[in-house]
Amino acid sequence: MKAALIAGLRRFSARVPFVSRVLQRYFARPLGRYPRPLGSEIKAVADVLHSGRWNMTSGQAHLRLESEFAAYIGVPHAVAVNTGGMALQMSMRALGFRAGHEVVLQVDTCSATAFAVMNAGCTPIFADISPETFMLPRTLGALAGPDTRGLIATHMWGNPENMAAVANLGASHGLTIIEDACLALGARSNGRMAGANGKVGIFSFGCIKPIQGGEGGMIVTHDEALARELRSLRHWGDRTLDFGVRDTTQLAWNGRMSEIVAAVVSEQLKGYPRYLRDLRDMLADFQHFLENVDGMELVLGSGTSVEDCAFTQVVVRLDERKLKRKKAELRELLAAEGIGTWHANFEAIPSLSFFKNETWRDWILLNLARAAQNYRSDFPVHQEVYDHSGIGIAKMHFASPWRFRSLKSKLGAVLAKR
Ligand SMILES: Cc1ncc(COP(=O)(O)O)c(C=O)c1O
Repeated sequence: MKAALIAGLRRFSARVPFVSRVLQRYFARPLGRYPRPLGSEIKAVADVLHSGRWNMTSGQAHLRLESEFAAYIGVPHAVAVNTGGMALQMSMRALGFRAGHEVVLQVDTCSATAFAVMNAGCTPIFADISPETFMLPRTLGALAGPDTRGLIATHMWGNPENMAAVANLGASHGLTIIEDACLALGARSNGRMAGANGKVGIFSFGCIKPIQGGEGGMIVTHDEALARELRSLRHWGDRTLDFGVRDTTQLAWNGRMSEIVAAVVSEQLKGYPRYLRDLRDMLADFQHFLENVDGMELVLGSGTSVEDCAFTQVVVRLDERKLKRKKAELRELLAAEGIGTWHANFEAIPSLSFFKNETWRDWILLNLARAAQNYRSDFPVHQEVYDHSGIGIAKMHFASPWRFRSLKSKLGAVLAKR
């Protein structure tokens, strides 16, 4: 009797991982858990742990992920790395950017992008944003100087940048384009996936990103030679694996992705198309909802419909006059209802103490006058969007139909108070 009971308990506990997987799969969605398991993440991690191949140098999980990711983006090569920032640094090194070269980026993208530029030995130059797309302006004016080599286009919060226009801008100044798609997995620009338009596209799987692996990054490219160079750069530049020579020709980093992370990201990617479809359906509904609100409009970047966007944060244009309310007041009212909002983009990077207090001078050693002038400039369009006309609604409020209904009803109630 006792033996039968113990055997029964053993059988039950053996089923617990299965039960837990089922619960995660079917209840995470209606309850709006975020980040949400989108495939069989727990089993995939267990498989890697049981295999004993935890590192990229011995495991196969990163190879599977690279081929699935390349297929999803529609490019021949994907190189798995440990963060999005590392993806940027390695890309700049592999593309031949060197100390003193300048790279232009929008002034209010994530500060990680500017720091990655600096950690690659280059100088970030900030551009004010377009009032239409909240991304790169349509002209660079005097921003591109003799040492400017690159232009980073960020698909902000999953809204697509117009990559055809960016390519023209780059061509007119002789700049290599890097596509920062860290926030934009699945977004589309000019008929292609975000990341597939420039010389390289980069992605992150860290926190707040479209899919998450507890950190991680990816570089995609159409260029086979570049992909090889990138693969050697992630092993401190060692060329044994990719060139058959034990030698190092570049200053490099450890950019390797863990096999455990690769397994999680693979499973996240499997469930992502369906997840994105559901999210876009909700956003189509939200766009319709906002059509009846005088003073609020969904921002899609250069996208023509919600089908072009990844909505890592939902960006809305405000007209304070029509709303008869300041952005700051609206944010406070929404916060009181439990609705988390932020700005449409990030703060201006030169407003951070590192730039304001001139600490950057410890690290940028060339072309100082140009950098100083750029960092002390005004960025009026950014300032207007940051202070008044751009707001971001946390993706968490779109994590389930239930949460989305609650968002609409609370937003409706706040707006009715005017
Ligand atoms: C636009 C953008 N680029 C790059 C990064 C850097 O990615 P990671 O945090 O994985 O280094 C981030 C995220 O922090 C980001 O939002």
